[in-house]
Amino acid sequence: MSEVRVLAAHEVDAAVAVLRAGGLVGLPTETVYGLAADADSADAVARIYAVKGRPQDHPVIVHISGADKVVDWASDFPSYAQQLAAAFWPGPMTLILRRNQRAHDFVTGGQDTVGLRVPNHPVALAVLSGFGGGVAAPSANQFGAVSPTSAAHVLADLGERLDPHRDVIIDGGDSSVGVESTIIDCTGEQPRILRPGAITSLDVERVTGLNVSAMGEAIKAPGTLDSHYAPDATVRLVDTAEQLEEVVAALAHHQFVGVLAPEVVQTPRGAIRLSMPQSNLQYAEELYAALREADRLGLGHVVALLPSGDDIAIAVRDRLTRAAQG
Ligand code: TXA
Ligand code: MG
Repeated sequence: MSEVRVLAAHEVDAAVAVLRAGGLVGLPTETVYGLAADADSADAVARIYAVKGRPQDHPVIVHISGADKVVDWASDFPSYAQQLAAAFWPGPMTLILRRNQRAHDFVTGGQDTVGLRVPNHPVALAVLSGFGGGVAAPSANQFGAVSPTSAAHVLADLGERLDPHRDVIIDGGDSSVGVESTIIDCTGEQPRILRPGAITSLDVERVTGLNVSAMGEAIKAPGTLDSHYAPDATVRLVDTAEQLEEVVAALAHHQFVGVLAPEVVQTPRGAIRLSMPQSNLQYAEELYAALREADRLGLGHVVALLPSGDDIAIAVRDRLTRAAQG
């Protein structure tokens, strides 16, 4: 059987042609790779769900080339949402807005809202501009699994499930942010964070001057609960270097243990270091590749020392907490 084709970054026209023909494109973005389809095509979007093994009632984000396209999909663009778009698009932020009639149930999961994002990646932006329309794209992984941050990850996860005659992956290099976009509900008086990401509630407050309703670190976007972002390995979370030593010592008698921890923390004896980030940004960037590496090595356990801070560390803690429920 032939394998799905991986295009080079400059082969944007070929990727656009695939979208026009109703095919799927493994599309690089700065957060994670998406599995993209024409957001106006019920059949193409249905294939996203089939390939991912994703429940039908989960809404997908519609990716657009610029804020000028918001009116194509949303009936209302409140001024604070416009401020956010001006400040953070293109970028790792999805705005939930009231939908208009173009945003069909097959992208909104039947909700009266639509999620819109302008990704900050040259290949994604070139594909979106060339295509012109909206591109529905969830993360390009099997439902519940770790999101992909490289074309190789997409190929490994979905290569067998994509159709070599209709679909392609386009290689735009490694995703630089590494965790999915911040999702902000803009349908109320004040913005509400539904999923933490690189854009934090402090960023949102600074730009809008509004209070962001305190949702803590809980997850409110439909389809983000449960065991998400989970590798096959069992993930254990710790807060300190001492706890890391203890947990690894208890596990390492039985099996190989992988460790994720900031660079300043020493690798406990008997553990395999999967990531040693020098910053919270780097922790996020390397997170999913590290979890995938654990599975590639067949490790039974991963112990992660949670990063501290109110920046992108919030998103890293969120994803690791859910990986630990897997
Ligand atoms: O960074 C990202 O957001 C990546 C890249 C590819 O853009 N995409 C991504 O898509 O993470 P996905 O499908 O894996 O996660 C999208 C989340 C889902 O949890 C979904 O529930 C939420 O966005 N979402 C989409 N539309 C929504 C809506 N109208 N209302 C509430 N949540 C929505
Ligand atoms: Mg996802």
